[in-house]
Amino acid sequence: MTDKSIQYDRIRHMVSESGLSHIAFIMDGNGRWATGRGLPREAGHKSGAENFKKVVRMCGDVGIDTVTVYAFSTENWKRPLAEVNAIMRLLDSFVRDAERENEENKIRFVFLGDKSALAPELSRKCTDLENLTANNRRLLNIALNYGGRAELVQAFDKLIAAGKTSATEEDISGAIYTAHCGDPDLIVRTAGEYRLSNFLLWQSAYSEFFFTDTLWPDYSADDLEAAVKSFAGRRRRYGAVL
Ligand code: FPP
Repeated sequence: MTDKSIQYDRIRHMVSESGLSHIAFIMDGNGRWATGRGLPREAGHKSGAENFKKVVRMCGDVGIDTVTVYAFSTENWKRPLAEVNAIMRLLDSFVRDAERENEENKIRFVFLGDKSALAPELSRKCTDLENLTANNRRLLNIALNYGGRAELVQAFDKLIAAGKTSATEEDISGAIYTAHCGDPDLIVRTAGEYRLSNFLLWQSAYSEFFFTDTLWPDYSADDLEAAVKSFAGRRRRYGAVL
């Protein structure tokens, strides 16, 4: 056995023992990764997008069935146009490749967020990919033009349009973008920041958190192992005394 397969076995064991089935990533630090190397910020996003594919594969290999990533927030439009365009191009080529690669990977893709603000061509490709992969078991949620507050507003609007005058927690869970899946067990944020930045506000009520200084393009199996190990050592009490 190689060192890598021994490590994956170790992580797989912790994943299964701890019941970790849904992990979410706030992929921060692409800009700093690039500027630290004297490169333009766009190079950091390119490297971040490549690593994102690796990390998703790694999560599947260790038995984590659902991965959610924060790819572009409703606030990220405030960035310089060249940087926004570079991220959109990366997303576009990711979605194009995903259709082709899906044959072997068998992942269900779901985009969380308001697609109407995206370029019509990208928005259509995202919907096509969702439809094409709808029956696959493993799930990858990509938050794109996503904001947790905007998500709740659209959920309330949806419920009002359906004639509701009051709502239960189940109604809201059924009207948000993640109605098709459970809440994240673990949310990881890279690059030494300690905030949610409008990510999964409703869904994170009982999530565990893990923060690391590692910049997203450098996120590796060692980092995943540290996060899973920390998660496996936690006692989730959901407000009760256990
Ligand atoms: C945060 O780093 C990262 C983003 C705002 C964008 C994340 C985008 C990608 C990983 C690439 C595209 C994604 C996919 C799914 C193909 P930052 O720019 O805020 O870093 P900094 O805090 O160091 O400036």
